[in-house]
Parts: sequence; C-alpha cells; structure tokens
Amino acid sequence: MSSPRSLSNCLAPAKLNLFLHVTGRRADGYHLLQTVFQLLDHGDQLHFTVRADGLLRRMNPFPGVSEEDDLVLRAARLLRQHVLAGGRSEASTWGADIALEKSLPMGGGLGGGSSDAATTLIALNHLWQAGLTRQQLMQLGLQLGADVPFFLFGGNAFAEGIGEQMQPVDTPECWYVVIEPGVMVPTPAIFSAKSLTRNSKHVTIADFSSSPISRFGKNDLQAVAADLFPEIADAIEWLSAHGAARMTGSGACVFCAMETESAAQHVVKQVPTHWKAWSAKALKQHPMAAFLSDQTAT
Ligand code: C5P
Repeated sequence: MSSPRSLSNCLAPAKLNLFLHVTGRRADGYHLLQTVFQLLDHGDQLHFTVRADGLLRRMNPFPGVSEEDDLVLRAARLLRQHVLAGGRSEASTWGADIALEKSLPMGGGLGGGSSDAATTLIALNHLWQAGLTRQQLMQLGLQLGADVPFFLFGGNAFAEGIGEQMQPVDTPECWYVVIEPGVMVPTPAIFSAKSLTRNSKHVTIADFSSSPISRFGKNDLQAVAADLFPEIADAIEWLSAHGAARMTGSGACVFCAMETESAAQHVVKQVPTHWKAWSAKALKQHPMAAFLSDQTAT
C-alpha cells in the first residue's frame, strides 16, 4: 500500500483553561497546577507534504522566530530523531514541507505554539508511518512544552502535575467569546512573579462537574497578568457585563461562555474595535483525534 504524500488543512485548535489553580512549585521551578483544558473549533491551519530528500522546511517562517525557537520545526525534528534512534534507517525519506497559517496570537494563553507542535507530531507520525502511539507522542510533546501533551490527548482534560497528568472530563456544550487584548504575555514572568499565590487547595473533577458553567474556581495567574498588563484588566471588565469573564492560561486572552452561537456572535459584534474578538464552539474531541492510536502500529 502506498503511503499518503500530503495532509492539508490540519487544524491546530486553540485551548482555554476553564479554571487554572496553582497548587505548588517543583524543585526545578515549574509550577504544579490543576486546570481544565477545553478545545475550541478555532485555531491555526497547517499543511504538510512529504519530501523525498529528507529536508524539513517551514514554507512561511515567522519573522522574528528563529529555527531553534520554531515549535513546528522542533516537533518535526524531535519525531525524526526519535524514529531514527529506534533503528529506522531510511533517513532520507523523513522530510517534509510544512506551511502554517497563523490565526492564534503569540503570548495569548490559547496554546497556539503548543497546538501547532502537537498537530505537526500527529500529521508527520501519520505521513511518515512512524507508528508512535498517542502516549509516545505525548512523552515527546512534553519535551517541547508543558501544554503540548494536552493537544495530543484527544479530548478535553482535567490536568494536574505541570499539566501533563490528564483525565478525560465532560465540559459544557456551549460557545465562547474570546477577546485578544493585543498584548503578548511572557509566561515565565507571570509564573515567577512574587505576588503569585501558589497554595490553591486541591479540587476534584466532581467539584468541577457539579458547578454551573464558567463559575468553578478561578485563574490564579489572572491577578498577576492583569496587574502587569492593564489591557487584560480592561478586557475582563468589559466582558464581565456579558457573563463570567476570565483569562485563559497566563494570558492575555479573556473569555466568556455563551449558551448559543447567536448570543456569542451578538457579543463579538459589540466588542470595542481596538480589540480583536471572535467566537468559537466548545469541541468534544481534537479535530485530528482519528490519527491518534493507543496501539503500536505493526
Ligand atoms: O513549558 P512552557 O514552555 O509552556 O512554559 C513556559 C514557562 O512557564 C516555563 O519556562 C516556566 O517558567 C513556566 N511554567 C511553570 N509551570 C508550568 C508551566 C510553565 O512555571 N506548569
């Protein structure tokens, strides 16, 4: 059977953190969290074409992002390295042209870069017929960033540890209004802030599931980020008139749940024009979940 040569229009979906509690700090400085990750039907698009000469190329590199910092290229190289270390020798065939259509902002808390990396791992694992399982891809993904394993999990997740210990969770069927306040938040600065509280008490999935939509817990990173970037505080204040608004991840984006698509679109239309805003449906599954397998390919 001949292997597929290309995969187009692969979505790298955005995520929201429906709540995010910081419960401690590890010896290596990384923070222990509890969070619910929610997938959205809005994100970046990637296109992959296998190359026969073994080259890995980004067709439209991002200005200001070096090859070493480009999570898409890093993901592709990591997968190739892993497969070659496993004894597959036909190195010249492990190449690809990768095009990325970027919609998600950098430093937005929507997991854009992590999601791009995860979609790259999923697509190239398929195209190269590398045969890694979902768990193996998640282990590789963790080397690229704490949020990457979630985008390889397949669905929404209640996450603990630094975000890599996940259990499936049911989340409300709804629409989200997302506002991009137009600032790029440096995640390490938020986590290392003196004023960050790191002692939220442990919660359970049942605590989350029994709470009304968008009312559970809080985002412990929000106060720090909103202090550093008043635009975030302004966006939360504006959106709060329409529901329970909060920040996702380490910011900058803020969101609010709506019961219907038309209600979400109605709010988006009223967002002040100096902010970018959009609405998105809550997904149950990752759009590329069909390519994830728990069994090693034979
Ligand atoms: O892993 P990722 O690149 O997403 O994390 C960026 C930075 O955020 C880390 O270098 C670390 O400073 C901080 N971080 C943290 N605890 C986490 C996730 C991220 O302290 N659970």
